[in-house]
Amino acid sequence: MDVVSEETRYQLEDAMSRTVEDIRAAMNEATRSGMRHFSPTIRVEGLRQTIDQIITELLANPRVAVNLQDIRSADQYTLSHSVNVCILSTLLGAELGYPLSDLRTLALGTLLHDIGKIAIPPEILNKPGRLTLEEAEAMKQHTILGWELLKNQPEIPPTAAVVALQHHERWAGGGYPHGLSGNQIYRFARVCAICDCYDAMTSDRIYRKGLSPAMALESLSGPMHGFFDPQMLLAFLNCIAPWPVGSMVELTGGRKAVVVAAERGRADRPRVRVLLEADGTRIATPYEIDLFRERHVEVVRELHESAEQYMSELAG
Ligand SMILES: [Fe+2]
Repeated sequence: MDVVSEETRYQLEDAMSRTVEDIRAAMNEATRSGMRHFSPTIRVEGLRQTIDQIITELLANPRVAVNLQDIRSADQYTLSHSVNVCILSTLLGAELGYPLSDLRTLALGTLLHDIGKIAIPPEILNKPGRLTLEEAEAMKQHTILGWELLKNQPEIPPTAAVVALQHHERWAGGGYPHGLSGNQIYRFARVCAICDCYDAMTSDRIYRKGLSPAMALESLSGPMHGFFDPQMLLAFLNCIAPWPVGSMVELTGGRKAVVVAAERGRADRPRVRVLLEADGTRIATPYEIDLFRERHVEVVRELHESAEQYMSELAG
């Protein structure tokens, strides 16, 4: 099940790409006429309408744990990344109990979090390999450039604009641009930081394949956990399905099963249908186990085979 309909996601990508084009046109115009500073007025009405639609759809499915494939569209990376981060952040905001007015501001801020990249030279932005030190420094400027672009916009609340400035700050310190920590970082930017990292890790790029949801969640809560607000991270883990419906997993004792349902708040203990015994023999009548009830069984690892393969084996 899609947490947000395909149609709404495309509407948002569309509205977002028009906003980006407007800013780019204004920027080119400013360069042509030799202006040193440019401050185009950013129209966000189109964005706001679609954001409201997204919030409505997300709140209509409060029990389904999110499967990232639901919100993935592989075309233009920056655009779909912005939309994914917006959807994930709104979902996390809802999980944190934010009221509607907060969700709207959060959605707008996270949608525009990387808008400063518009002013980063494309040869740096799209470089497939490692950035040099100078290039990395130039890249970091997207936070400040985004803030400069958004902070005086009459239609954009400062609490949305600050997400662009602070989304690379880290909970334990050591982020950029200002090396803030803990509650010095505005809460919407803390939400964005989690969703931004998660989406970046699970995305396929030209030069590497994305991590699976389970592996990405593991690095968020393992090696990277100091980057994020711990309470928000817990809430995020509640919302995301590490093993999306349809994926194959190995259970305690070696049995192989396909995930058939994952619910929010217990997504690490999905309902599965057992297809193969530990020794690889097929089970004549596959049966379901609710791992939330049967606490002695758990997922020990994900399998990279497709469920169809096992299904056809079973059928054959
Ligand atoms: Fe960024």
